[in-house]
Amino acid sequence: MPTNEERLNRLDRMRAEALLGGGPVRIERQHAWGKLTARERLDLLLDPGSFVELDAFVMNRTADSAAGEQRFLGDGVVTGHGTIDGRLVFVFSQDFTVFGGSLSEAYAEKICKVMDLAMKVGAPLVGLNDSGGARIQEGVASLGGYAEIFLRNVMASGVVPQISVIMGPCAGGAVYSPAMTDFTVMVERTSYMFVTGPNVVKAVTHEEVDSESLGGAMVHTTRTGVAHLAAHDEADALDAVRRLLAHLPQNNLEAPAVVTTDDPADRQDPELDRVVPDDPHRPYDMHDVIDRIVDAAEFLEIQPGWAENIIIGFARLGGRSVGIVAQQPAILAGALDIAASTKAARFVRTCDCFNVPIVTLVDVPGFLPGVGQEHGGIIKHGAKLLYAYCEATVPKVTVITRKAYGGAYDVMSSKHVRGDMNFAWPTAEIAVMGAEGAVNVVFKDAIAGADDPAGERARLVAEYEEEFANPYVAAARGYVDDVIRPSETRPRLIRALEMLADKRDTNPRKKHGNIPL
Ligand code: HXC
Repeated sequence: MPTNEERLNRLDRMRAEALLGGGPVRIERQHAWGKLTARERLDLLLDPGSFVELDAFVMNRTADSAAGEQRFLGDGVVTGHGTIDGRLVFVFSQDFTVFGGSLSEAYAEKICKVMDLAMKVGAPLVGLNDSGGARIQEGVASLGGYAEIFLRNVMASGVVPQISVIMGPCAGGAVYSPAMTDFTVMVERTSYMFVTGPNVVKAVTHEEVDSESLGGAMVHTTRTGVAHLAAHDEADALDAVRRLLAHLPQNNLEAPAVVTTDDPADRQDPELDRVVPDDPHRPYDMHDVIDRIVDAAEFLEIQPGWAENIIIGFARLGGRSVGIVAQQPAILAGALDIAASTKAARFVRTCDCFNVPIVTLVDVPGFLPGVGQEHGGIIKHGAKLLYAYCEATVPKVTVITRKAYGGAYDVMSSKHVRGDMNFAWPTAEIAVMGAEGAVNVVFKDAIAGADDPAGERARLVAEYEEEFANPYVAAARGYVDDVIRPSETRPRLIRALEMLADKRDTNPRKKHGNIPL
């Protein structure tokens, strides 16, 4: 019979063994690749000393020790809870030093346990991914384990924030767990995501491609939009998680934290009165507008390198978190295309899930024309953004800085789709289309029959601009609540958000809507 002392020693020994994961050699290899270990990552992510580990003694069940197969305490994933800026979060961190971080049945159960706890107590889940995928030795049990995780990702969607960080391989069906979380952050050069890797691609399509070019951080943050942020290194990626969580509540029943700010709520910025050029065809950078309006010019832009004609991200106004959706007139004149619509639609829904008010800055000439766009399905993709704005019940405050033309006027958080406070700058042009296009359609015959068609056309365009290319036709109908000086945008937005802080709005009871996908 062992003594108590021996029992304690055994616990200490096992705990120390669990901390080593796959052992010193594999840890060294992980470091040589420029990667941290699963535990080092958690140390960086969580408040010092806050991590509480669960299931450190779980081991895989199928190891055939007669065949010399090893078993590792913890079985390739570190799970538990801790705090970030004092707030509870649940975490899992895949340990590449154990079977390449591959997922076994027991490993999946560990992840499911923290997911279930996160749901029960209403706290965010952060997953650090670094894995060779399904544990080959476990066969279908591993596939079942993935599916159990996928199911929980979906059940947790819109209930607690879920953030994925990709810090190594993430391949095959394993990609679908991050894909169903709210945000995916990828580390440049050391992480990749693809459904089928370079070898399979070569065998099937004869295309030669390496992992980085097929599914690296740059690809997914500039071409596909699969990931939301690319980080220079692992510390940067984990910092991004902290910054994202700072704008989100613990769960869908709470509001994001309100913080104190030194930036005065009544601060006006005279530069804003000059930001829109006199020539309506000239671009300007909407980032300037955002930076001048929000608290301390701090803007956490999401997907900055993809669909740059629309800008999305988090900022604060008077200490309150807001999601900003803004056209970028400097790219494609701010037109809505397939990628921009999809990008903004997802963000609007994320904000709505987690009670983050939406501030929309509008300068949109319309949907992007072109065969490519039409054949690519701009109708259904544009509809996603319209749908997202229509169903969102969070406070929605809109500022039309310049163009708000056609269907895009309706889409961009107009009064008609439950925009709560809609402002326009004096430079706003709210109309069915631009003056040139409108005159070409309405006065086609008059222009053709005129003695001086070019002169007649110019006269009609000037007349149309005078009559329609301004905010006052819309203001006369109450479609904008006020026409404001650009310099006073910040105080007006803050007062609107204060007024709307306790807003309650609902949608009809239903199983779920049918957003066009
Ligand atoms: C078991 C695995 C493993 C796996 C890696 N290892 N992947 N063990 N199951 N899927 C082990 C290796 O045997 C090795 O063990 C250690 O992890 C490190 O692997 P290396 O190959 O030495 O590392 P590296 O050269 O960096 O290559 C990493 C890798 C490669 C690209 C991930 O290992 C790889 O291609 N693995 C197989 C990937 C794969 O096909 N997975 C299944 C995908 S299908 P030792 O003992 O030497 O340290 C899938 C379906 C999911 O995931 C379905 C969800 C619905």
